[in-house]
Amino acid sequence: MWVSLHAVCLRSQRVCRRSVAAAVSQCFRHRDASVSHFSLLAGLSAQTCKALVYRTHGDPSRVVQLEGVALPSLGAKDVLVKVLAAPINPSDINMIQGTYAILPDLPAVGGNEGVAQVVEVGSQVKSLKAGDWVIPKDASLGTWRTQAVLPEDDVISVPNDIPLVSAATLGVNPCTAFRMLSDFEDLNPGDSVIQNAANSGVGQAVIQIAAARGINTINVIRDRPEFTELSDKLKAIGASHVIKEEALRKHEIKELFKTCPKPKLALNGVGGKSATELLRHLQIGGSMVTYGGMSKQPVTVPVSALIFKDVKVRGFWVTQWKRVHSHDGRAFRAMLDELCSLIKQGKLTAPACTEVGLQQYHAALDAAMQPFSSTKQVLVM
Ligand SMILES: NC(=O)c1ccc[n+]([C@@H]2O[C@H](COP(=O)([O-])OP(=O)(O)OC[C@H]3O[C@@H](n4cnc5c(N)ncnc54)[C@H](OP(=O)(O)O)[C@@H]3O)[C@@H](O)[C@H]2O)c1
Repeated sequence: MWVSLHAVCLRSQRVCRRSVAAAVSQCFRHRDASVSHFSLLAGLSAQTCKALVYRTHGDPSRVVQLEGVALPSLGAKDVLVKVLAAPINPSDINMIQGTYAILPDLPAVGGNEGVAQVVEVGSQVKSLKAGDWVIPKDASLGTWRTQAVLPEDDVISVPNDIPLVSAATLGVNPCTAFRMLSDFEDLNPGDSVIQNAANSGVGQAVIQIAAARGINTINVIRDRPEFTELSDKLKAIGASHVIKEEALRKHEIKELFKTCPKPKLALNGVGGKSATELLRHLQIGGSMVTYGGMSKQPVTVPVSALIFKDVKVRGFWVTQWKRVHSHDGRAFRAMLDELCSLIKQGKLTAPACTEVGLQQYHAALDAAMQPFSSTKQVLVM
């Protein structure tokens, strides 16, 4: 059902701060221009699409609404895409709440990642053709929508014969896991990595990419009634060890290190005490890389870890990595090729997900914000 009487125009969202007046004026120029263009496109009778829009920051289930959004006309270097599926990630929630490091101008369409199919290409588009699957190159694209007109350079192709949910969730979490396992320590088969939030999307990608490289993973998760079930699930995708947060402070972990080398690398998506405990178990000279702060607690580094173990305390943000490497797409392409190859070999599967229609976005947003929400919510358009 068409929800809003009001059609807003949101082209690709940019982090730059344009004036609202300029944005609105541009919107209407695009909308006017699109009328005749889209009336000529076979099979596309409307120049609007549906999108999950927020006009103010706040609680996602309160501020996000399904609206009609005008599509701009297709420029020579643009592609018209049909979004197929887009996940709800913690960064999407934080962006809507207004607490993320980058915030698009408002009104904005939610969603930073997803997979779309190219429907139509502009006359000067070289790298893409109708039918190709693409994912965003950068954050803030606004993927929770049915269609979009985007510059060719804003997207990168992925194979269209991998599972839909794998493609929709490829650009953020597996890329983050890949980079953290590649760029901070020289890891060889037999080495170990320790991580918290091991059941998260990032954590599951870490487990699988590490397993494919012969690297042991020590996976820390929060206790829960179905701990054994979750532990078995993580072991089935390649986790070497799965332990509860509390075990990091107990004898159990000493036993574990009798058979498994101390980790060279710790991956922290939680912060607080959990991060401090990871640090305690690092090898001398090892690195802890913080990529998330799910507990909203700061990271405390014990003085002894710095003095006696000379640990390196680092951070990683995949958005920054993509921006630094945007001038030369080869590193991104090579990473996607390797990840897609693992997917095709069945060595990298997407986290368990609940696929929901765009209309069910309220329930999906609520579910994504629940504690112990071990399934990823994926909007299927
Ligand atoms: N820096 C980067 O480039 C980058 C890239 C991707 C993701 N991230 C960040 O990485 C984190 C995970 O993202 P995701 O998409 O993988 O998440 P996800 O699949 O939605 O999973 C969330 C994870 O956070 C854990 N968690 C939630 N609240 C917690 C708390 N209070 N204390 C401890 N653990 C808690 C959950 O554990 P339970 O099951 O026990 O609730 C679960 O393991 C987020 O902070 C996200 O923003 C960063």
